[in-house]
Amino acid sequence: MTERYHANPERYQAMSYRRCGKSGIRLPAVSLGFWHNFGDTDKAENARDMTLRAFDLGIVHFDLANNYGPPPGAAEENFGRILRRDLASHRDELVISSKAGYTMWPGPYGDFGSRKHLVASLDQSLKRMGLDYVDIFYSHRPDPETPMEETMGALDFIVRSGRALYAGISSYNPDQTRQAARLLRELGTPCLIHQPSYSLLNRRVEEGLLDTLDELGIGCIAYCPLAQGILTDKYLAGIPDRSRAANPHGFLKPEHVTAEKLAKVQALKTIAERRGQSIAQLAIAWVLRRNTVTSALFGASRKEQVEEIAAVSSQLQWTEEELAEVDAAMAHKLVE
Ligand SMILES: NC(=O)c1ccc[n+]([C@@H]2O[C@H](COP(=O)([O-])OP(=O)(O)OC[C@H]3O[C@@H](n4cnc5c(N)ncnc54)[C@H](OP(=O)(O)O)[C@@H]3O)[C@@H](O)[C@H]2O)c1
Repeated sequence: MTERYHANPERYQAMSYRRCGKSGIRLPAVSLGFWHNFGDTDKAENARDMTLRAFDLGIVHFDLANNYGPPPGAAEENFGRILRRDLASHRDELVISSKAGYTMWPGPYGDFGSRKHLVASLDQSLKRMGLDYVDIFYSHRPDPETPMEETMGALDFIVRSGRALYAGISSYNPDQTRQAARLLRELGTPCLIHQPSYSLLNRRVEEGLLDTLDELGIGCIAYCPLAQGILTDKYLAGIPDRSRAANPHGFLKPEHVTAEKLAKVQALKTIAERRGQSIAQLAIAWVLRRNTVTSALFGASRKEQVEEIAAVSSQLQWTEEELAEVDAAMAHKLVE
């Protein structure tokens, strides 16, 4: 018999909350994603522990998508169970997001950006989670074939119909972002947030997207800030059994953990130690160094990782010298 959950009364004391673009919403500096470790192949009790520990530490934003599992849909179902059992009375303290765009069911309506896919998929997500609405609903990826007017029209309809409070986009490039933002603004449903990949190992958003978001007043939540775990000390001595790279269901494959990346991580270690942080904490604080990035969207496989990442929120300051040292560490090349 699992113990009844009582939320930590001091949960809002340590976390910092940052304004999402020019909106009324503030998000925790770090948010928890449900892409890995919340499926049916994972331990339900561990998923519950991580979720509740996050909430107890002020992490009030949980990010899901239709296809998170395995199998696809399982993360939303499992999250729905935790919500009903433990967090039902805290619904108004939570920002829950979901997305549609990647393949979810067979046939021509099972993916991408048609109105048909987005609305049907969100209705399925709401059923799986046992919710009346999500706080943020995203177009998960741009669709090269569907007119942007249709995809943004669907997001506007989703918000107006009460299925979501805010609209977001994920992995749109700067031009697509401008077009989406303009269409949404014209429809009267502003784009709240963009969800791009951003980490010390992937700085593509610095080539125009972050400036575009600043200019448009759209918030940014950076996904994979730890490069799926590479930006931690975990792989410095090989691939451990309990790691994403060793997990057959994981998206991180052993061949992604290269000697070149590990040499950079090793170089970051000295800087992290001087700052009194772990490498993971440094990597999270680094994506948050610019206010444009509202929140770092991390993943976890155990509750201790959630604790370590939540603690970053009180150590986000950087000096110019430290930032230059980080750049130098990342420029590190292996001498063969
Ligand atoms: N919009 C999109 O297209 C998109 C795409 C991908 C992800 N996302 C979102 O972003 C979220 C995060 O993605 P992600 O899980 O790849 O992010 P990540 O934060 O880069 O990687 C998370 C992994 O790093 C390891 N880790 C975390 N904290 C650690 C610590 N303190 N010490 C050592 N290792 C640590 C864990 O892996 P181990 O299992 O090895 O312990 C954890 O599962 C997803 O859940 C999802 O919500 C969105």
